[in-house]
Amino acid sequence: MKKFFSVNDVHDLKKLVLKAKDIKASPFSDKQLGENKTLGLIFLNPSLRTRLSTQKAGLNLGMQVMVMNMGQEGWALETRDGIAMDGNTVEHIREAAGVIGQYCDVVGFRSFPSLKNRDEDYSEELFNKFMEFCKVPMISLESATRHPLQSFADLLTIEEHKTVKKPKVVLTWAPHVKALPQAVPNSFAEWMNRAEKEEMIDFCITHPEGYELAEEFTKDSEIIYNQEEAIKDADFVYVKNWSSYRDYGKVISTDSKWMIQPDQLSKSTKVMHCLPVRRDVELASSILDGPQSLVQAEAGNRLWAAQTVLTEILSS
Ligand code: CP
Repeated sequence: MKKFFSVNDVHDLKKLVLKAKDIKASPFSDKQLGENKTLGLIFLNPSLRTRLSTQKAGLNLGMQVMVMNMGQEGWALETRDGIAMDGNTVEHIREAAGVIGQYCDVVGFRSFPSLKNRDEDYSEELFNKFMEFCKVPMISLESATRHPLQSFADLLTIEEHKTVKKPKVVLTWAPHVKALPQAVPNSFAEWMNRAEKEEMIDFCITHPEGYELAEEFTKDSEIIYNQEEAIKDADFVYVKNWSSYRDYGKVISTDSKWMIQPDQLSKSTKVMHCLPVRRDVELASSILDGPQSLVQAEAGNRLWAAQTVLTEILSS
């Protein structure tokens, strides 16, 4: 593996999940693999889980890990070419990425979308330019359109907790007070579509009209506008807010009826959320604190997803 940006960088999905299970069972069996190698984790935006789980994954493999909150601590970054940098930006991505690439063997990079210009965000210019100039293998720690380490951890969690061969997995939109990126639901849909093709799950999406995700991510997914109908008999309900793709970056509904209540779920349904979650806005605290919640298991699996990806990169 030379980069980890989307599920398309995964050759064999089932094998990758099995590898993650093996690593989870024996976390230090490859502790020499990263000896004398440096992992750089560059954040342009805040993080708790991604930062700590990927850092620990590198340490478990014997790597040196450097973390930089570039959005707060670094020079203001310019990404455009052919302009005189006489404004607020101080350092061009060409120089910054080139320098970081000399200090690191693998680089993880997080950059959220602006939610202002859809074409710009969906071109993934920032991630692609950084990768071009740093010239070492890169891992997405969440880009403008995807969060692959999260989706990998989510799939691992589903595989660990399923009680039937092919569980029904439902992605549902939930209300929120702010406009959030589509990266997590895009990525979840992309990974679940691949898992569905490989007969691992059945997948559908439910959201209010107007919250359709980009077709490149949902492809043949069934979309059901009636949440109650969609989550009926679900084995896993994945709760997430996102802003509109069509009316780009806009909050077009805050309908609290879309916040699932415990009595809407069958007893065997498991509930997932990538965290951070706004309690009693996105998801009822009685669900979060109850036996149907898998949020802690998902967050725990972020470590094994990151360690598996790093193992793949270091071994290739
Ligand atoms: N789920 C997730 O990526 O969490 P952080 O934003 O805290 O890293």
